[in-house]
Amino acid sequence: MKDPRKEMADVVPYSIFNEGRREKVRLDLNENAWGCSPRVIEVLRDVVPEDISLYPAYEPFIRKIAALNQVEEEQLILSNGADDSIRCVFDAFAEKGDEVIIPVPNYGMFDIYSRIRGVNIVNVLYNDDFSFPTQRLLEKVTKKTKLIIIVNPANPLATAIPENDLFEILKTAKDSIILLDETYYHFINKSYTRFIKDFDNLIIVQTFSKAFGLTGLRLGMTFSQEQNILNLKKVNLPFAVNSLALKAAEAALKDQNFVQQVVENVKLEIEFLRNELEKLGLAVYTGYTNFILMKIGEKSDGIYHQLQRRNVLLRNLGKYPLLKGFLRVSVGKREDNIELIKALKEIMGRANES
Ligand SMILES: Cc1ncc(COP(=O)(O)O)c(C=O)c1O
Repeated sequence: MKDPRKEMADVVPYSIFNEGRREKVRLDLNENAWGCSPRVIEVLRDVVPEDISLYPAYEPFIRKIAALNQVEEEQLILSNGADDSIRCVFDAFAEKGDEVIIPVPNYGMFDIYSRIRGVNIVNVLYNDDFSFPTQRLLEKVTKKTKLIIIVNPANPLATAIPENDLFEILKTAKDSIILLDETYYHFINKSYTRFIKDFDNLIIVQTFSKAFGLTGLRLGMTFSQEQNILNLKKVNLPFAVNSLALKAAEAALKDQNFVQQVVENVKLEIEFLRNELEKLGLAVYTGYTNFILMKIGEKSDGIYHQLQRRNVLLRNLGKYPLLKGFLRVSVGKREDNIELIKALKEIMGRANES
């Protein structure tokens, strides 16, 4: 065995065991339960050999994305999913000894990339009501703060940062980069991409993995001022995005009805889940995302495993700060949500209730 870089020693790889998931009730990874637009399937059926044998051309797609977001073509870059966008930001901007402020609980990859780069992690706990800890975060900003992570709406808390707070952070932490992760922005119907022209310290990450449902194709985007994008290009793979993802994304963009329908469906199903879960006496936390949280309490680990045995997959948040006893439920189709409720009733000994 050869030793990796010292910083890697205590990094735990993001664990992924997806074999057999297709046959299960998948309420664990915030995927799109409604799949993707039928138009995506149509264009992929029409693929010709050159679509595969040539290196992809990104310019036409970049022009479309720039126009849609009211930014210049030089102000964005494509990536192999939002995860790849985030990695590029760490690779380009963060070095050993820098500090990164990560509000917690949060999506796990920020922590992993920080450790890989030897960056010092400064955690700020979200408020008890899951709102964004703006003032406490600002108190932590120092000369060493290179990156400040803001996920909006947040994963796993589902809450949003108020617009004024975001602008306050952008204006106050002028020497730091604010990495704004908008993975779930469709579900709040609010993106800040058009503000990149006003702030040279704002980098925004988006993805086709959620509302568009192109998760398996891997396509993300990073928006920022041209100088930042030039630096991101230095660490990006020359062809990070494959040709089929591009074709699919073009088709997906033409079907805005699909996205709107998904957002509507998610809202409806959140209400269904809230109702049913509250009937079981569980506290339910909803926000602006395609997932919700439920508080089970002491038995949450056991219930999580029992659900797993019944092929109902959720995310156990019990080890996250503020979330002891919580499980995360990605919003599924009605039949999936009914399966969850049925399984929960059985496990909680309330199978006879209507
Ligand atoms: C906050 C956040 N950022 C990034 C990602 C990664 O998304 P992608 O599939 O585009 O890599 C996820 C995935 O769930 C996420 O929740």
